[in-house]
Amino acid sequence: MHLLGVDIGGTGIKAAVVDVATGALITPRQRVPTPQPATPRAIGIAVARLAQSLDWHGPIGCGLPAVVKHGIVCTASNIAPEWIGVDGRQHLQEALGQPVALLNDADAAGIAEMRFGAGRGRDGVVLMLTVGTGIGTALFINGSLIPNTELGHIEIRGKDAERRASDAARKRKGLSFAEWAPLFDEYLHRVVALIWPDLVIVGGGASKAFDEFGPLLSAPVEIVPAHLRNEAGVVGAALYAAACLTLPLSE
Ligand code: BGC
Repeated sequence: MHLLGVDIGGTGIKAAVVDVATGALITPRQRVPTPQPATPRAIGIAVARLAQSLDWHGPIGCGLPAVVKHGIVCTASNIAPEWIGVDGRQHLQEALGQPVALLNDADAAGIAEMRFGAGRGRDGVVLMLTVGTGIGTALFINGSLIPNTELGHIEIRGKDAERRASDAARKRKGLSFAEWAPLFDEYLHRVVALIWPDLVIVGGGASKAFDEFGPLLSAPVEIVPAHLRNEAGVVGAALYAAACLTLPLSE
C-alpha cells in the first residue's frame, strides 16, 4: 500500500509517496521552504502544491511541529500562532481535498524509526529526538508511543532547551557540530536524568552529521543516529495515515 507522507517543519516541508509495508520512498522526496509566516492558510496551500506535484490522490499523513490532540493544534513554537485551537486535520483535509491524518512531527519520525529504523525490535523506554529548527521528542514504552511529549522545551540555564541546543541554535551561533556537541550533551544529560531511557535515537537535520558530534557525547545512555535520517518524518506520517485512514486488509 502506498500513501503520501508530509513532514511540515519550521524551515522546510518535505513530502514523498511511501510504501508503508517497507518504509521505502516510492517517489523522490520533494522539499519546499516553509512559507513565512507559517499560517494555516499558507501551509495548506504549500502542502496542496506538493501533493499536486506528486500527482497524489488519496489519504495523506501530515506531521506538524506542534502538539496535536484529536486533530486540534494546541501549540505553535515554530509555526504561526494562528494555528493554536485550529482543527488542523479538518483544515488540511479541506485544503487538500483528501482524507488527512495529523500528528506531531517528532512522533511521526519516532513511529518510522521504531518500525523500520534504529528502534526496531527495541523494548523498554526509547526516546527519539528530532534535532532541527526545534528539538522534537517521541517517547515509546515497549514500542507504544506516548504522544505529544514536548521535552525539547525543558528549561536549561533559564532558557528553553531548544533555543540553546537545536540545530537552528547551532547555526545561529555559527558553531560547527563539534563545537555545538557540549550544548547538546548538556541537554541529553538533563533529559536522561528526568526519564532514564534505554535508548536515544537522534534524528532530524542534525542527524546527517552524527559522526561529527556523536563520539563527543557523554550522557549515560545508548545514543544512536536515526537510520532513516531526515526521512523518518515523511515515512512515519504515511505509516500513521495507514493506521488511521485505511481499513484492515481482512475487511
Ligand atoms: C515543537 C514540537 C516539535 C519540535 C520539532 C518544537 O518546537 O514544540 O512540537 O515536535 O519543535 O519540530
